[in-house]
Amino acid sequence: MTAPPTHDLVVVGGGPGGYAAALYGAAAGLSVAMVERDKVGGTCLHRGCIPAKEFLETASVFRTVAGAKEFGVQAEQPTVDFGVSQQRKGKVVDQLWKGLGGLLKKRRVTTVAGTGQLGPGRRVTVDGGTELVGRHVVLATGSVPRTIGGFEVDGRLVLTSDEVLALDRLPGRVAVIGGGAIGCEFASMLSDLGTQVTLLEALPQLLPGCDADVVEVLARSFKRRGIDVHVGVPVHGHRPMDGTTTVLYGEGGQVTVDAVVVSVGRRPRSDGLLAAGTAVEVDDKGFVRVDPWCRTGEDGVYAVGDLIATPQLAHVGFAEAMVAVQDALGEQPLPIDYGRVPWCIYTFPEVAFVGLSEAAATAAGHDVVTKKDPFGGNGRALILGETEGLVKVVAARDGAAGAGPILGVHMVGPWVTEQLGAGHLAVNWEATPAEVGRFVQPHPSLSEVFGETVLALTGRGLHIS
Ligand code: NAI
Repeated sequence: MTAPPTHDLVVVGGGPGGYAAALYGAAAGLSVAMVERDKVGGTCLHRGCIPAKEFLETASVFRTVAGAKEFGVQAEQPTVDFGVSQQRKGKVVDQLWKGLGGLLKKRRVTTVAGTGQLGPGRRVTVDGGTELVGRHVVLATGSVPRTIGGFEVDGRLVLTSDEVLALDRLPGRVAVIGGGAIGCEFASMLSDLGTQVTLLEALPQLLPGCDADVVEVLARSFKRRGIDVHVGVPVHGHRPMDGTTTVLYGEGGQVTVDAVVVSVGRRPRSDGLLAAGTAVEVDDKGFVRVDPWCRTGEDGVYAVGDLIATPQLAHVGFAEAMVAVQDALGEQPLPIDYGRVPWCIYTFPEVAFVGLSEAAATAAGHDVVTKKDPFGGNGRALILGETEGLVKVVAARDGAAGAGPILGVHMVGPWVTEQLGAGHLAVNWEATPAEVGRFVQPHPSLSEVFGETVLALTGRGLHIS
């Protein structure tokens, strides 16, 4: 017999996917319980996005102070005390954590400490004791770093993002395995703070899937700053000796380092989440199977965030949480268009994109037209002293008008993660360059580069053609 519900919504996991479901559900008037075994905020707040961006900001401040003389500002040559940066990170995380706790309380979300397991009848058992029954359940238990065979994570020689973000001293030499978002962000940050970095990526380019023109700018910048980048080189293993280790990669490549950072992706945390007797399905990689509305095979049970096989981004988790709650409320939400979600990578220079890369658009059968505008000609970028980068817009070719709907916007350069919004709207609105080109960009601003690129696609750029 199915027990009567204790709550309208029971959420398992208090990371971005889970707390967004809880807050959004509570805002819609639902009674909500959220089960979390650690601290609310999840990987993003405690071991991911927020701490990583804090350290990247330390690198940015360091670069600014080191380059101050160019502006006529006399400052001593800076040095980094990473322990202080670690404390500052702690303060930022703490403040956000307390803020989130306060918000959950204010919305009357009941937070239950412990590990939840879903059984039949939408019953969630916490640590084998307390039982919560939801009219609806959202599973949002997130993911953990993947490792590779032979690399035992010991927190000293072999680290994942979890351990790097907890260091209070930086190693002298590091090999970063995997040139995805995490690998590139760590390579950028560690190198800027004085660590000698070797970056090893198995596929032929860094940030696989990102537009090649953008990646080229990033790779050039990494090289100029002394990061030793190798692509097309799978890592096979390593040989520890006397507190250091030699990493073996590609055909005969090797490098001796003080620490290895393994950033080869994350795997969903679905182990032990499901008791026998539910219709929730898990695929061979451990992802919970869902339909486009995040519904699992069990009636009334949803799964969101890194637990499902969609882009592992906190903001995608937020969006999925909202879709799940709206569906639970019978509001017939539109599914998320995963091909048009924003991607922001906080390397130096930053990378931001939305929609199809030129290669992906061509592979999808589009006849495309593209324009690129470098930040080098932009007044604000020159004032900032950060001219590395470009904006590239990919549009469908339209015989008569030149360029039809904008398919992709790709940026690399200063503060592009804060500039992607206009491109995100353009791609999701399926706007044409002629439509977007009518909007006025402030001058002088970095956003003029996007405006200029779009204007060029209308055939009448002010500065580029
Ligand atoms: P990822 O999947 O983005 O990249 C892992 C990389 O490792 C791939 O390029 C893969 O080819 C490479 N690789 C795998 N095995 C290898 C081997 N044996 N030798 C050499 N290279 C190997 O995963 P990552 O960077 O760990 O990030 C995990 C997730 O978190 C991703 O989905 C990512 O998008 C997300 N994330 C996003 C951020 C952002 O958007 N700013 C920041 C951090 C993470």
